[in-house]
Amino acid sequence: MIFNPSGGWRWHWRAWRWRPRWAGTLGQIEDWLMAQTEMPSDTLVLIGASAGWMMPPRWLARFETIHTWDIDPWAAPLFRHRHGQALRAQGRTLHTHTGDALVQLTALIAQQPQALFWFDNVLGQLCLFEPERHEALEQRLRTLHQTLAPVAWGSLHDRFSGPVDEQGLAIPPLRPVAPGSDAQSPEQQAWLHGIHAQSPWGDHLTGEVFPRGTPLVQIAWPFKPAHWHWLEMGWRPAQHAPPASLEARQDGPRPLRYSAHMNTQTCTRLHLATWLLASVLAGPVFASDTIALRHLPSRLQAIWDKTKPEMNEHSRCAAAFDGHSDPAKMVMRCSVYMRMGAEAERRALAHCEQERTSKGVHMPCKIVRE
Ligand SMILES: C[S@@+](CC[C@H](N)C(=O)[O-])C[C@H]1O[C@@H](n2cnc3c(N)ncnc32)[C@H](O)[C@@H]1O
Repeated sequence: MIFNPSGGWRWHWRAWRWRPRWAGTLGQIEDWLMAQTEMPSDTLVLIGASAGWMMPPRWLARFETIHTWDIDPWAAPLFRHRHGQALRAQGRTLHTHTGDALVQLTALIAQQPQALFWFDNVLGQLCLFEPERHEALEQRLRTLHQTLAPVAWGSLHDRFSGPVDEQGLAIPPLRPVAPGSDAQSPEQQAWLHGIHAQSPWGDHLTGEVFPRGTPLVQIAWPFKPAHWHWLEMGWRPAQHAPPASLEARQDGPRPLRYSAHMNTQTCTRLHLATWLLASVLAGPVFASDTIALRHLPSRLQAIWDKTKPEMNEHSRCAAAFDGHSDPAKMVMRCSVYMRMGAEAERRALAHCEQERTSKGVHMPCKIVRE
């Protein structure tokens, strides 16, 4: 591993350094977790545990056995250092594991079908590992709950993050929200204005981690001076028994790749640069035009043909080009695995606009119609 953009020494240093800043957020997390009396309390599988900087000791002590997982080799010894003694004193058993828990998720579920699987501020960090594969990651996050259906599971994760004008700002109380709640809704915009959010904010691609109907709460996290996160937290009881065929297998997603030069703050900065807050302050950003497929350069038509088998009725592509001969002046971006055409359109346009700007293409991006 060259560099872990969501953990490692940087995370430990920050978490230690900003303990006083984070105290209010951690208090809200603790109060909510302690109030979830229906959660299973026999075994906890804690994924993205790190040193448990954000984990309330009182809540951990509810579980008879705890398995922590983290890819960061420093996490296990630091977790034991921070929590081991207190847990042992209360007769609890702690197992600390180093490895990619997502790759082994099916096997872990098979091994611990009665456990609570808790993703602790990790799902919103995955986009930092794969900055160029947002669509694939969103699809993975959207279907994760299917893998987890046999067990009780929950997650605390980033939804968005970005700059705030934090002078005189106190963290707002935790509030209930609907899964997938839209950052453009009046309630969310009011919440963002309440914490003096300044555009652009970054989207951590976790909007569809929880299935509809999951009770969720939203928490503000003053991560570092003038840079806050919108955290979301919820849990679901087990939905059905694990299928008999669920053997301990290692068939999860492919391991994460690590890069030495990633931005550790935001994932899809453009999303917010183009619509969050700007949509309130300046009205709709995209007045998208359309273009017929047959009018595209043959090179872009070929991309369309290649993408077509993966597309559903909600998928959209956006294209821009200056002439039909120079490939350097052509852009086409598709949003494929979507459940809403409007959202696919917004994303395709956003990605297209980003690439168009970087390539210096003059024609604006247009939604492609067959
Ligand atoms: C923001 S930190 C979480 C902090 C932690 N929950 C705490 O209380 O300190 C995210 C952690 O997730 C870990 N992580 C990222 N991907 C992982 C994976 N696939 N399996 C296990 N841990 C992972 C990172 O190494 C990092 O320590």
